Amino acid sequence: MNITVIGTGYLGAVHAACMAKLGHEVLGVDSQPERIARLAKGEPPFFEPGMAELLAGGIASGRLSFGGSLAEAADFGDVHFLCVGTPQLPGSLAADTRHVEAVIEGLAPHLRRPALVVGKSTVPVGTAARLARVLVGLAPAGADAELAWNPEFLREGFAIQDTLAPDRIVGGVTSARADATLRELYAPLLSAGTPYIRTDLGTAELAKVSANAFLATKISFINAMADLCDAAGADVVTLAEILGHDDRIGRRFLSAGLGFGGGCLPKDLRALVARGEELGVADSLRFLHEVDVINTARRARVVELASTLAGGSLDSVHVAVLGAAFKPKTDDVRESPALAVATAVHAAGARVRVHDPQAADNAKKAAPALEHVHDVEKACEDADIVLHLTEWLEYRQIDPMALRAVVRRPVLVDARNALPHERWRAAGWTVRCLGTDSPGPRHQAMPRSAQAQEET
Ligand code: UDX
Repeated sequence: MNITVIGTGYLGAVHAACMAKLGHEVLGVDSQPERIARLAKGEPPFFEPGMAELLAGGIASGRLSFGGSLAEAADFGDVHFLCVGTPQLPGSLAADTRHVEAVIEGLAPHLRRPALVVGKSTVPVGTAARLARVLVGLAPAGADAELAWNPEFLREGFAIQDTLAPDRIVGGVTSARADATLRELYAPLLSAGTPYIRTDLGTAELAKVSANAFLATKISFINAMADLCDAAGADVVTLAEILGHDDRIGRRFLSAGLGFGGGCLPKDLRALVARGEELGVADSLRFLHEVDVINTARRARVVELASTLAGGSLDSVHVAVLGAAFKPKTDDVRESPALAVATAVHAAGARVRVHDPQAADNAKKAAPALEHVHDVEKACEDADIVLHLTEWLEYRQIDPMALRAVVRRPVLVDARNALPHERWRAAGWTVRCLGTDSPGPRHQAMPRSAQAQEET
């Protein structure tokens, strides 16, 4: 099929390249010419494992190209994927749907033949029904210009795998024709056994935000348990393992630590609360506010722990920060808990050196007041405290004995509960974590397995 992908951010660029991989003719369009220029050259504008190869393969096949206006997109495609961002509105919990609206208003007047516009952006429930009316009203094709909603659930770091082998495909449609088009688009995935759920527009919109709100709730639940474990002298890592053996609960997204961040979970959670208020069900969704509060408190907890370990004040303390991305395998620092802690520690008077294997450039732009360095030893030179804030694999491979020779004081806060604590302790380090703190035999089984970490 001839398809366009409008908005080539994280979601759109990956989706465009994956659709070409599935055999479609794909045109990616974006309002930022420099982004399009990079993509057209085969350069991913962000770090994502496998993306450079996928992009290069698509371009070489002749099925994937980038550039052009919305008018050209309308000429080219029979299906148009909407992949523009819906960030949190400044000063509000709600999502900003302006970009989605602008694309519909810009594209619709050029739709002269039957077309299916497929929303993938995460929007408040009710947005699609409204946009569908605008589309029909503005398109010369009238009712032959249809809207469907097909949310994506891709995780950064696993974006290609999640797009080409998703665990479900949701088709929010208002006609059998739209449903058939979506099934045809995803035919290779459906024949590989991916479940396809046909539903209405509103349920499809809710699928994405409610999945993210649920995941956020799981993380904040285990983080609340981590505080309880600290207070009671119990161990949250073992607790998560025990809970995880219950199939109804599952181990994934039960890793206690610094909490969630990124471009999706925090904003989707807040947008859901805001939409619930608008729809008069604020009371039913109030707990999601607590999920957000628990999550944000993790950051203050780590700053407080660092301050305590420094003797009550962070003023002039040398702090090494390992990790700036909101999670491993990405260079994304949006709503990054790691960068928030680094910034707070700096604001408390510490000299802060930040290291991240992939996110250094983005971290520098987002937090220019901090010192950003390119190797772990440099970050840790003369450090009084090392804060492990993003669980990159390479940090697990650090030799604590060698690093001890570099720092001023061998003190580690493992805010992700992910390093081999026994090794660090054996090398003379004081190690503190969240919810799993006391030194002793039970740490021998720690940290959680590499497998569990890969899964998150
Ligand atoms: C998320 C959803 O998983 C994905 O389905 C959706 O499409 C977009 O939002 P992503 O933002 O890439 O994906 O990150 P995810 O892997 O879900 O992690 C979110 C945050 O939760 C990260 O900051 C991570 O460090 C944190 N997390 C995850 C925990 O703190 N503990 C866990 O056990 C799991």
